[in-house]
Amino acid sequence: MGHNEQNLRAYDGVEDLLTFTSKEAVDQYHLERLKFASGAVAFLEKMLNGRKQISVLDIGSGSSCLLYALDNKGILSKGVGIEISKSRHDFAQQWKREGEYHRVENINKDVRDVSFEKTQFDVCAILDSTFTYFYPVDAQMPMQILERAYQALGNGGWLVMEMASFIDTKRLCKDSGVYYKWAELPETNKFLYSLYKVEHSPEEDVMRSESRYIYRGKVGESRKIEYSKVYTPEALEKMLIEAGFSKPDFYDGYNNRAYDPKSSSRLLLSCRKD
Ligand SMILES: C[S@@+](CC[C@H](N)C(=O)[O-])C[C@H]1O[C@@H](n2cnc3c(N)ncnc32)[C@H](O)[C@@H]1O
Repeated sequence: MGHNEQNLRAYDGVEDLLTFTSKEAVDQYHLERLKFASGAVAFLEKMLNGRKQISVLDIGSGSSCLLYALDNKGILSKGVGIEISKSRHDFAQQWKREGEYHRVENINKDVRDVSFEKTQFDVCAILDSTFTYFYPVDAQMPMQILERAYQALGNGGWLVMEMASFIDTKRLCKDSGVYYKWAELPETNKFLYSLYKVEHSPEEDVMRSESRYIYRGKVGESRKIEYSKVYTPEALEKMLIEAGFSKPDFYDGYNNRAYDPKSSSRLLLSCRKD
């Protein structure tokens, strides 16, 4: 694998402001994103540890909903979101202006092209499977990002990562190496159907997911292809220790339970720069 540029473009057009039909639709979507971020917010609150506020670097920040949700709670001293998709960055910027989120800076760049000042953050977050997209782009990229996250954190700072474990997907792909899924979407969604084709390449443990979204009320579809590396806690721990972090704790997503390799569909971890 390696040098697979598709992952860098997978979110082009997502949250395109032109596709929202009204201000109400945008407001509704903001609420959905804030709700989506609530598990991560509750988890990051533990990192306050007696302090009033934390500074957060969010890699693959999308709409920056995590940073806005933290700011809404009054616990963000500074937030920097790095997002490669222009449409998502523009959406985040509009939300920032409307919500007057002065503590948040949104950067529209490939994370590899951003230079961080050393030791400036309390927390670095790489959530929603963002970390799994790096290896298919370049096999060296995951380690490079962990090393840079380490540098960007102050002593005692936390790295938090959350991703799909792919245990169900691997099981579904077991016989033929591929599985298909489709769903009818709720009326609030501008798409009527979603269709997925997922293929597993066991040699490198990489998933190729092709998603197609069929428009509601007009002919056409939106298509997205992404590649994701499947990680075990053991593989992650080895990389994190090599990057200088403490031994990580693994959780079953934001459920406050320990990670179970047989049943956890999400893998959440936290570790420290000591
Ligand atoms: C699964 S999404 C996470 C979205 C975000 N956490 C949210 O809740 O809105 C992963 C994001 O990482 C971004 N991304 C992927 N590779 C990137 C890179 N090399 N540099 C910066 N952002 C990247 C994608 O464009 C996408 O928006």
